[in-house]
Amino acid sequence: MAVNRARAMPIIEPFRIKSVEPIQVTDRSTREAKLLEAHSNLFLLAAKDVMIDLLTDSGTGAMSSAQWAAVMNGDESYAGSPSFERFERAVRSTTGFEHVIPTHQGRAAEHLLFPALVEPGQVVPNNTHFDTTRANIEAVDGVALDLPCTQSADTLARHPFKGDMDLEALSNALAEHRGAIPLVMVTITNNAGGGQPVSLDNLRATREICNRAGVPLYLDACRFAENAFLARERTESLAGASIRSVARAFFDEADGCTMSAKKDGLANMGGFLALRDGALAQDLRQRLVVTEGFPTYGGMSGRDLDAVAQGLMEVVQEDYLSYRAASIRYVVERLSAVGVPVVQPAGGHAVFLDAARFLEHVEWAHYPGQALAIELYLEGGIRSCELGSVMLGRTDATTGEEFPAQHELVRLAIPRRTYTQSHMDYVIEIVRRVWERRHEIRGVEITDAPKVLRHFQAKFRSLA
Ligand code: F0G
Repeated sequence: MAVNRARAMPIIEPFRIKSVEPIQVTDRSTREAKLLEAHSNLFLLAAKDVMIDLLTDSGTGAMSSAQWAAVMNGDESYAGSPSFERFERAVRSTTGFEHVIPTHQGRAAEHLLFPALVEPGQVVPNNTHFDTTRANIEAVDGVALDLPCTQSADTLARHPFKGDMDLEALSNALAEHRGAIPLVMVTITNNAGGGQPVSLDNLRATREICNRAGVPLYLDACRFAENAFLARERTESLAGASIRSVARAFFDEADGCTMSAKKDGLANMGGFLALRDGALAQDLRQRLVVTEGFPTYGGMSGRDLDAVAQGLMEVVQEDYLSYRAASIRYVVERLSAVGVPVVQPAGGHAVFLDAARFLEHVEWAHYPGQALAIELYLEGGIRSCELGSVMLGRTDATTGEEFPAQHELVRLAIPRRTYTQSHMDYVIEIVRRVWERRHEIRGVEITDAPKVLRHFQAKFRSLA
C-alpha cells in the first residue's frame, strides 16, 4: 500500500497517562479578580488559579512509573544508603566524573562550589549566568561575567548555536584578568539566552582557551540532554551518535559540573556537583556536611536519590527527546507563521516571546514583558515568566536610575512530560488571540517593589 510520506505525522507523546491531575477551568472574570488580588504579579497567584502553568520547567515535570517504583526502593539510612550508590553510579556513568556530591537542588551545588574556588574580586566568565549562579558568585564578592556569542543578540536570527560562548571575548577576559579567573563556566543549554544549545566545537575551543590559561572548566549541566539532542541535530559529524555519547563528549571537555536534577534529572527535587579533582571534592564534602547533609544524601532523601538515578537513564532516551524537541518546535513554528515574534530557532525547554517586538508601542520603562505575561493569563489562564526589565533591568544604587535589560522576553517554559499536544494547541491559540488585539494592550508600572529579586514580590498597576 502506498504511503504518503510527504504529509507530516502528528506529534504523539511517547507515553500513556496512568494518573491524572485535574486542571481547574476558569473564566476571564474570575481571572481578572485573581490577578487583582495578586497585584498583577503572576508569582503571587495561587497555582490552582492557573490553567496551564509555564512559569518554569524546573521540578514541575511528571515522573515515570519506573521512577515512582524507584521511590519505593528509596533507603533512608543516614549513612551509606544503597540509594546513594545507585545515584552515584547513574551520575558517574552519565558524566564520567569520579566524585559525586548530592545537593538538594542546583543552587545548593553552586553555593558549595563558588565559596571554595572564588576569592573576592575574582571573575567568573560564563556564556550566560543563570540568576542563582550569578547571585552565588556575587555572594562571595566575585564578578559574574556574561560572554554570550554575538549571534545571540538578535532574537529572530536562526543561527543554530546561539548558546555558544564568545571565544574572542573569553580570550580577552583571560588576558585582562590573568590570575584572577578561578574557573570558567558554560551553561548547557543557555537558559537565560533563550534555551539555545552550545555546540561541541565551541565547548572544545573554550576548553583549549582554558587549558592555555591553566583555568578549570565547569558545566552548568541542568539541561545537558536537551543540549546533546539539539547539538546532534545541528552538527553533521554527530549524526547517528547516541544521545548518551554526545552528552558524554560534552562532559569529557569539563573538569566538573553543577546540576539541577529538577530539569534533566526528570525529578521534582535534587541536584549534584560532580568533578574529577579528588582534593577539591574532599573540601566540598566537608562544606556539604555543614550546610546540606552527610555526603551520602547531601540534602536529598533516599527516595529522591533513586528518582534521579532512574530519571538520568530516561532523559537520554531518543523517543522522549525527539518528542520534546518536536513539540517545542511546533509551538515556535505555528506562532512564527502568524507573525508572532518568537526567539529563533526553537530552543530546548521553552518558547520565548519577544515582548519588545510583540508590543512595539510599549516602551521598556512600561515593562512590555510583564504586560504581555498579564494578558496571557487573562486571555487563557496561562502563567508565563517575564525575562525582561522587571527581572533583569539594573537600578543604579546611588542615583536610583533604571536601565533596561538587553531583551524584553516572556518565557513559556514547558514542564517535562506534563502537558499534551492539545495543551500546546491551546497555548498557540491564546497567544494568537492576544497577538490579534496587541494594539489595545498598555504597559504597566511598578507600585511597590523590594530591593533585591524584585520580580518575585513586586506589585504592578496596568496603565489605562
Ligand atoms: N542553572 C540554570 C541554567 C538554571 O536554569 C537553574 C534553575 C539553576 C542553575 C538553579 O537550579 O533551581 O535547582 O536551584 N532554573 C529554574 C528556571 C529555576 O526556572 O529556569 P535550582
